[in-house]
Amino acid sequence: MAGKKLLIKHAAELVTCAGAAPKMGAAMADIGIIPDGALLAENGKVCWVGPTAELPGQSEAEWEVIDAAGQCVMPGFVDSHTHMVFGGYRAEEFFWRLGGTPYLEILERGGGILNTVQATRSASLAELKTMALGRLDNMLAMGVTTVEGKSGYGLDKETELRQLAVMAELNREQPVEIVPTFMGAHAVPPEYKGRTDDYVDYIIKEVLPAVVKQGIAEFCDVFCEQGVFSLAQSRRLLKAAQSMGLKAKLHADEIIALGGAELAAELNACSADHLLQASDAGIAALGKAQTVATVLPMTAFCLRESYARARTMIDSGAAVALATDYNPGSCFSHSIPLVAALAAIQLQLKPAEIVTALTINGAAAVNRADRVGSLEIGKQADIAILGYPSHLFLVYHAGMNIVDKVIKQGQLVWNKTDQK
Ligand code: NIG
Ligand code: FE
Repeated sequence: MAGKKLLIKHAAELVTCAGAAPKMGAAMADIGIIPDGALLAENGKVCWVGPTAELPGQSEAEWEVIDAAGQCVMPGFVDSHTHMVFGGYRAEEFFWRLGGTPYLEILERGGGILNTVQATRSASLAELKTMALGRLDNMLAMGVTTVEGKSGYGLDKETELRQLAVMAELNREQPVEIVPTFMGAHAVPPEYKGRTDDYVDYIIKEVLPAVVKQGIAEFCDVFCEQGVFSLAQSRRLLKAAQSMGLKAKLHADEIIALGGAELAAELNACSADHLLQASDAGIAALGKAQTVATVLPMTAFCLRESYARARTMIDSGAAVALATDYNPGSCFSHSIPLVAALAAIQLQLKPAEIVTALTINGAAAVNRADRVGSLEIGKQADIAILGYPSHLFLVYHAGMNIVDKVIKQGQLVWNKTDQK
């Protein structure tokens, strides 16, 4: 099969998600559906898309042919916000939270993110890599072909660099493309307790230069939250990162409304993420900015917090992406099907908007909208084939994984029928 060119034909529905990126506001509902669709890919890239009846003539002997009758062919999912490289688990915390202990209180006591920091600091590169590899396999089975991954469980130079190195090695060894983000400002480590400004100085003076020298991270992210990093500290850190060539992301207005959405727009960040508590002014700012509003409904679900106002964001003209936030604490799930169900049922997004949010807008949130996230000539042939005839089933078959095949750069990398 390797080296063969790929032909997919007779898709009940071929969803291209073509067009300008990111898709903002009303444009999110336009996903470019081609009934009885077909696609050709060569050298890992899409070289033709259209109705099967208009396929250019070619001898099928040279092609790997997939008959997608009764199926929906769409761009592979881009999970644009995860914390997928970590050591240890925090199952007990989940139940403390259900019992009423707030997430930030657990962190303040030295648990939460700091619990995972201990386990990650004591894990070797090989151990972290083996764990992350298993997670990537499971993501691929859900149709994810690109995933963002954050460091942020080291909070010291050595471990942060190790988490990033894990991502770089995994990028060479398995099909899901990982977009690495440096998140040294995820929490204040115990050695700097009560000295947050000193920790920000340490990150800017010692860790960021080492991260840039290592050359793996593309983004810098900060947990801008009450009791973690203030607006001023987040601004200082992200400006320093931008001046060193990294692109900005921000964990914004997750638990307390601090004005993170406004800050992300001010800094022209690539994305502002979470936004559960984003203010009217913050939403209006995102509606005018190119910054993608990345909404993570499974985190609100797992933390029993109110959901981000994604409907208002789209109606205000913003580009919304949906992602999982997979991590061992606030959201221990990388279930794309659950994200889709919550987006429809709790966020009141239309199925087409959900598809846009999980594909081309996710790609924009990781600065890859020119390469992935839509099925257009010249883009990577990263494809999810659903075992049902339309994208509506992503929501309607609530919480179920309906992915039948996954293609990465024109190669079939996951097939349901091969699974035991
Ligand atoms: O996006 N809020 C900060 N960071 C993660 C949670 C990390 C953790 O709990 O380990 C989040 O929710
Ligand atoms: Fe997160």
